[in-house]
Amino acid sequence: MRNNIITTALAVATAVYADCPDYLSYALVPHGPFSGGTYNLSYMRPDPACRTFNSTIVESAVTNISNLITDPDLKRLFVNSYPNTLDTAIKWKGTANGSDEELTFVITGDINAMWLRDSANQMQSYLPLLTASDAYNSLASLYRGVINLQARYLLIDPYCNSFQPPIESGVSPSPNPSASDDTVRPNYTNTSIFECKYELDSLAAFLEVSSNYYNATQDATFFKKYQWVDAVETILQVATNMTVPTYTADGNVSVLSYSFTRLTNRASETTENGGLGNPFNNGTGLIRSFFRPSDDATIFQGFIPANMMFSRYLASASLIAAAIGENDLAQRMSCMASGLRDAITASGIVTTRSGGQIYAYEVDGYMGHNIMDDANIPSLLAAPFFGYLDVNDTVYQNTRQLILSAQNPYFMRGPDISAIGGAHDGPGYAWPMAAIVRILTSNDDAEITQQLQEIVSTTDGLGLIHESINTYNISDWTRQWFSWANGLFGQMVLDLEDRKPELLKQSFQGNSSTA
Ligand SMILES: *[C@@H]1O[C@H](CO)[C@@H](O)[C@H](O)[C@H]1NC(C)=O
Ligand SMILES: *[C@@H]1O[C@H](CO)[C@@H](O)[C@H](O)[C@H]1NC(C)=O
Ligand SMILES: *[C@@H]1O[C@H](CO)[C@@H](O)[C@H](O)[C@H]1NC(C)=O
Ligand SMILES: *[C@@H]1O[C@H](CO)[C@@H](O)[C@H](O)[C@H]1NC(C)=O
Ligand SMILES: *[C@@H]1O[C@H](CO)[C@@H](O)[C@H](O)[C@H]1NC(C)=O
Ligand SMILES: *[C@@H]1O[C@H](CO)[C@@H](O)[C@H](O)[C@H]1NC(C)=O
Ligand SMILES: *[C@@H]1O[C@H](CO)[C@@H](O)[C@H](O)[C@H]1NC(C)=O
Ligand SMILES: *[C@@H]1O[C@H](CO)[C@@H](O)[C@H](O)[C@H]1NC(C)=O
Ligand SMILES: *[C@@H]1O[C@H](CO)[C@@H](O)[C@H](O)[C@H]1NC(C)=O
Ligand SMILES: *[C@@H]1O[C@H](CO)[C@@H](O)[C@H](O)[C@H]1NC(C)=O
Ligand SMILES: *[C@@H]1O[C@H](CO)[C@@H](O)[C@H](O)[C@H]1NC(C)=O
Ligand SMILES: *[C@@H]1O[C@H](CO)[C@@H](O)[C@H](O)[C@H]1NC(C)=O
Repeated sequence: MRNNIITTALAVATAVYADCPDYLSYALVPHGPFSGGTYNLSYMRPDPACRTFNSTIVESAVTNISNLITDPDLKRLFVNSYPNTLDTAIKWKGTANGSDEELTFVITGDINAMWLRDSANQMQSYLPLLTASDAYNSLASLYRGVINLQARYLLIDPYCNSFQPPIESGVSPSPNPSASDDTVRPNYTNTSIFECKYELDSLAAFLEVSSNYYNATQDATFFKKYQWVDAVETILQVATNMTVPTYTADGNVSVLSYSFTRLTNRASETTENGGLGNPFNNGTGLIRSFFRPSDDATIFQGFIPANMMFSRYLASASLIAAAIGENDLAQRMSCMASGLRDAITASGIVTTRSGGQIYAYEVDGYMGHNIMDDANIPSLLAAPFFGYLDVNDTVYQNTRQLILSAQNPYFMRGPDISAIGGAHDGPGYAWPMAAIVRILTSNDDAEITQQLQEIVSTTDGLGLIHESINTYNISDWTRQWFSWANGLFGQMVLDLEDRKPELLKQSFQGNSSTA
């Protein structure tokens, strides 16, 4: 019976995709009708028959919100970007073999694999519209499918960041030649795992998508049904193991349950000291992270933004454990969450030469600290967005001022767009994602308007949110199909509609007209 359902879903999927253009090439060239604005933005939604998931509520939000936007280019960018994950990235949705357990395979966009971080955040774009539902076509069902599949992935190997399609989907796995060194992982097969970079924020992402679903639906029963508790237990084991310092008390080198090296010509694609990373001191209370949310290696493993995000969502996910009667687990989760918060305050704050206190991006627990911010979320800039602290927190505001200036080694400036970037695409490339987070964490109308103007005017006519843009040449950008950043842009527009609807009535037809 279940197999029949799976077969039917597969048949539909095949029919849907057969005559559809590959979005990777579709998103490279403009398509009419054009916006009619100064920036002549393309229409980028796929033909309805080619969309990967239909949601009435998302369509209704796209219509309602776009009717509130006056500027033709901002309107077009919103219409293209907000539904992008549903339009293009729900590669398969079905159930586990022989079970009613929903599964949703969400690709990141241009790479045919599912990242824990991206898929959690791709779902988060639609959080404002999420309500409890059992229906197959509901956002709630999509969320449940992502949570179940992420739990399965974490149980295969919690130190991996990106995974292949579930076997039930019949979707072919994608080759990842650069992960050939990941085969040292005990459970590695190239048909189940795409890449094994251990990133603390990937674990936080599972807690994030779980908390978001629970908070919006109050559906606790779901979390009892499948492997959620086992996945959380595994996450706690990783977190505990990753507090182990480089040296034992008597000076031996600690045995660590993870290490990573790769043959590469990029420093950020491998780690120091034969795969252990730079030495990490005892006593910080922080959880180590070998990689950042950009999938680039950390310089110091006490990576503050991921520790913040992990603490925040561990605390909220402990409410789920409590609601399903897992009281001991709930207790351990909330205890670790608050211990981590203390550790961040004790080890993650640095006093600058002028005497102000700021959060470091990374620390090693010796005296090493890295003062910067990177565009990817979790970042320091995004700390209030993911709910770790209040936007008016003094240390946050000090940090924000510094990372949005030339004092941040990765703040990219230029005539077309100025925003935080990162080592992933290198100097000179600003990330619209960081401009979006800047808006989400600002109460200043002038700052918000300026950032919106820069985002709307730098899509190179394509009308989608790219990963990064050369600050001196908007035709030089990376990733035509980066689904998460598109959803995040839409989520930001919904947030503005809620907080500052008058800003959506402005013109963005040129710098002078927005003053
Ligand atoms: C808009 O862009 C399209 C595609 O590049 C082009 O054919 C069209 O002439 C442009 N329209 C305007 C008004 O610039
Ligand atoms: C979405 O709806 C269109 C009709 O508007 C249909 O052709 C398409 O198959 C649907 N997609 C899915 C995944 O159900
Ligand atoms: C869009 O507006 C209609 C009419 O006011 C309303 O019924 C619907 O709930 C709105 N949709 C969303 C997602 O808010
Ligand atoms: C390997 O993956 C399976 C699930 O496919 C899991 O049951 C098992 O515990 C994993 N083994 C290790 C060593 O992680
Ligand atoms: C589904 O389960 C059946 C029976 O356990 C097995 O024979 C079949 O190979 C499974 N199919 C997939 C796609 O895992
Ligand atoms: C997995 O590895 C095998 C053996 O090296 C290779 O033939 C196959 O193409 C690989 N599959 C993928 C998806 O990379
Ligand atoms: C944690 O470390 C212990 C040994 O200290 C090991 O047995 C266990 O497998 C590790 N678990 C994970 C998830 O790394
Ligand atoms: C770490 O520091 C704590 C507290 O000072 C101490 O009890 C513990 O033995 C130390 N562990 C290592 C591995 O140095
Ligand atoms: C430290 O290393 C030495 C030399 O390998 C070994 O004799 C000793 O047992 C180790 N100590 C611990 C606590 O592992
Ligand atoms: C749940 O969502 C509400 C807003 O809908 C928010 O105020 C509250 O803080 C959230 N709770 C948690 C634990 O995230
Ligand atoms: C932050 O401070 C500003 C200015 O004092 C105030 O308008 C705003 O409401 C505060 N925001 C929060 C979330 O407390
Ligand atoms: C801008 O970037 C595009 C795309 O990389 C390139 O073709 C063009 O030559 C660049 N323009 C300048 C002035 O460098």
